[in-house]
Amino acid sequence: MKENWIAPSILSANFAKLGEEVDKVLSAGADVVHFDVMDNHFVPNLTIGPLVCEALRKHGVTAPIDVHLMVEPVDRIVPDFAKAGASIITFHPEGSVHIDRTLQLIHDCGCKAGLVFNPGTPLSHLEYVMDKLDIILLMSVNPGFGGQSFLPSALAKLRQVRKLIDESGFDIRLEIDGGVKTDNIREIKAAGADIFVAGSAIFNQPDYKKVIDDMRSELAKAG
Ligand code: DX5
Ligand code: ZN
Repeated sequence: MKENWIAPSILSANFAKLGEEVDKVLSAGADVVHFDVMDNHFVPNLTIGPLVCEALRKHGVTAPIDVHLMVEPVDRIVPDFAKAGASIITFHPEGSVHIDRTLQLIHDCGCKAGLVFNPGTPLSHLEYVMDKLDIILLMSVNPGFGGQSFLPSALAKLRQVRKLIDESGFDIRLEIDGGVKTDNIREIKAAGADIFVAGSAIFNQPDYKKVIDDMRSELAKAG
């Protein structure tokens, strides 16, 4: 069983104090920084790019940065994020015409690679690329905004992907993104996830450590 990673989505952080916010959430016990990239084309919102990733590295952030690309096209921007200090780069199959090539590109740039599935996206894209994946990310909301409610249909999809990963024998992490809170993280874990993205649940509270500690104690109950 893999160690659980809590990955705060900085989409809900105070962007005017981003360096401080990331320091605070990491010292509160977060494992990974989840970095949401939106292009106002693939999703109806516009966020942050490689310059901000690089700025966090220059600020002194050493934790893994998990770049979630909600952009189209994907390949043009991958090397920029690798140079900017990304550790993990994930993308949606709808954003890339050649998903095998994009996965290879991410690896060639020295990053871990993953595919992201929207709530309505079928898992068939996994069929021929399992050997090239470090991460599978399931969206439990439609991408574009923080603070949405967890879609319960994600639980069955998680169980399905957990089975596929276990049967494949590959070392692939299963990440969940959208509407993750202290009160549902336990059942999400039980369904098979091992990386938990949480934006509003953490950044909308005054005490980040309390939320992360509460999430960890819920995760411990899931076994
Ligand atoms: C949504 C983003 C998420 C989002 C999660 O498109 O990919 O990472 O920030 O936010 P919460 O945890 O508030 O649902
Ligand atoms: Zn995300």
